Amino acid sequence: MAEKEVVETSEAQIAVHWQEEKYIYPTPDFIAQANMTDPTIYDRFSLDHFPNCFKEYADLLDWYEYWHTTLDTSDAPCWKWFVGGKINASYNCIDRHLAKNKNKTALHFVPEPIAEGYQHITYQELYVRVNEFAALLRDFCGLKAGDRVTMHMPMVPELPISMLACARLGVIHSQVFGGFSGRACADRIVDSGSNVLITMDAYYRSGTLIDHKKNADIAADLAAKDGQKVDKVLVWQRYAGKASSPTPMVQDRDYFVQDVLKKYYGARVAPVPMPAEAPLFLMYTSGTTGKPKGCQHGTGGYLAYVAGTSKYVQDIHPEDVYWCMADIGWITGHSYIVYGPLAIGASSVVYEGVPTFPDAGRSWRIAQDLDVNIFHTAPTTIRALRKIGPDEPAKYNYHFKHMTTVGEPIEPEVWKWYHEVVGKGKAAIVDTWWQTETGGFLCSTLPAIKPMKPGSAGPGMPGIHPAILDDEGKPLPQGCGKAGNIVIQNPWPGQFQTIWGDRDRFVANYFARYCKNPNSKDWRDWPYLAGDAAVEAPDGYFRILGRIDDVINVSGHRLGTKELESAALTVPEVAEAAVVPVADAIKGKEPDLYVALKPGFSASDELAKRISDKICEEIGKIAKPRKVWIVKDMPKTRSGKIMRRVLAALSNKTDVGDVTTLANPEIVDEIHKMMQ
Ligand code: WTA
Repeated sequence: MAEKEVVETSEAQIAVHWQEEKYIYPTPDFIAQANMTDPTIYDRFSLDHFPNCFKEYADLLDWYEYWHTTLDTSDAPCWKWFVGGKINASYNCIDRHLAKNKNKTALHFVPEPIAEGYQHITYQELYVRVNEFAALLRDFCGLKAGDRVTMHMPMVPELPISMLACARLGVIHSQVFGGFSGRACADRIVDSGSNVLITMDAYYRSGTLIDHKKNADIAADLAAKDGQKVDKVLVWQRYAGKASSPTPMVQDRDYFVQDVLKKYYGARVAPVPMPAEAPLFLMYTSGTTGKPKGCQHGTGGYLAYVAGTSKYVQDIHPEDVYWCMADIGWITGHSYIVYGPLAIGASSVVYEGVPTFPDAGRSWRIAQDLDVNIFHTAPTTIRALRKIGPDEPAKYNYHFKHMTTVGEPIEPEVWKWYHEVVGKGKAAIVDTWWQTETGGFLCSTLPAIKPMKPGSAGPGMPGIHPAILDDEGKPLPQGCGKAGNIVIQNPWPGQFQTIWGDRDRFVANYFARYCKNPNSKDWRDWPYLAGDAAVEAPDGYFRILGRIDDVINVSGHRLGTKELESAALTVPEVAEAAVVPVADAIKGKEPDLYVALKPGFSASDELAKRISDKICEEIGKIAKPRKVWIVKDMPKTRSGKIMRRVLAALSNKTDVGDVTTLANPEIVDEIHKMMQ
């Protein structure tokens, strides 16, 4: 490649090769029933009406005291929303629904073992259980507003119950994803300064009752070594009154919750009116390097934003059955299983196990049994379901009106399968782009107002004003086909408040790059850097290309890994694809492509060549993979994200680092052997 081109390609620019897909329109039936059909919402939420427009979301909630200042920028960029307002999240998610809906199901719990059937927890039962547990936290543990509690819970109703009990007291909860190790839990206990750990003895995963209590011992021991003593470990029992874990209880530290709760039978705890800007919870981001960041979310702003988006983007109505398959241990579960849906009085499904246990039809049977009509999951799960059971959805009698995809860019091929097969051609799909840090959706279509476009998240949400900047901070013109760094120009109520205990890192990571004046108190000077590369189409739809770091520079051409992966997925045998950069003395970087095949297909040189040719055909010779590795499975995080870092280490023959927290660490060795 000519040197001139190398110079001309700026850091932020990625040539984007894939074609925009055609629009797909929601059905008239969907539009007729949708919560938001008024296109003037975009005008009401324009920058001219910022920040007061967000009153529309805050008014979905019950406040003890109304706020006097919508947005306080005096401590920029630590924004404060609805200042002066007093509110309680637990009250909004439970108490206020009792008068009319106490008998309605708040949580449908689906245990993994089929024989255990379904549990339907009404708002009244949720109220009772949250109150009793809040009394225990307050009186037995001595917890009060502002204290932090770490939770290391599986996907059971006791997790939202514990969260809402904390929220009732103004105690800040920090839920660590249940599949994480004791070490990971310890780090988060130490960072948050928690002296109470809430956990469960055991839970089901792929048919096995896993001993989870042992992680609590590891966590408490390691935390103590790092200077944070855990005074009490509260252990919920998967089966009350029955030992499900062989790990012994530690005297005067460990307590079975159901035993202690007997003392609090009938207890009622008045919700504590909290300042709107009081922290509600911490959610640590699972960064691959560096210390995890405790994203601190506030109460009033966060709850307003997730309530508004649950209503208008998730389109949840009182009579709907809504199933988000994420784990509550991730932000998606916090915002769109617990706080958003319950704030608007929904019936929300909590499933303990894996979507494909014991077979590929399990998810669709759950949908059929509970008559789920709103479904929410991630591309990794969609690819897994497509891989092992492409014909399963058609066998079941369920009807989704609405489906969500979230978590990573979705390849148009996979999107189309989701739409046609899972959604049976009828469901409206939203591709919601957002982050742990952002609390709620940033880009998405409003499902009854904007058409879908496979592979594109859509325009900024009402009140969210994205822009794509080059490395100098200049906006790239809309529709220019060049990629850059996506920023949000304005604050919004769901945005995290800071990194717990590390304001400097908060500013450095998310604002420093494009901040126009570090002393400014004007929000216009503080664009939020999301850290993703994106491209904006002429119609204002944003396509997310992945993390800025996932970009590969081949001979001066910057290629988004996602477009190569999408091209690979158009080969019918391919189920999953991951592209990683390999250092090359001449080209700078070359792409290595890893693919996993659908069942029934086997690896061959012919197939590898066909995949490679397809990429050259779709994107150009410049993108030709150095090597196509056909592997049995991809190394994945517990949340299902492909660990490109590990694949990159394998390709570059460098140290793969710690892989013990992966969902399938054994695959790393297998791939390594195969490559020799
Ligand atoms: C990616 C999950 C494309 C993105 C809610 C972001 C997406 C990171 C999408 C945040 C989407 C999330 N399309 N990419 N619809 N949604 N991402 O913090 O790179 O677990 O920065 O939050 O996931 O991941 P996190």
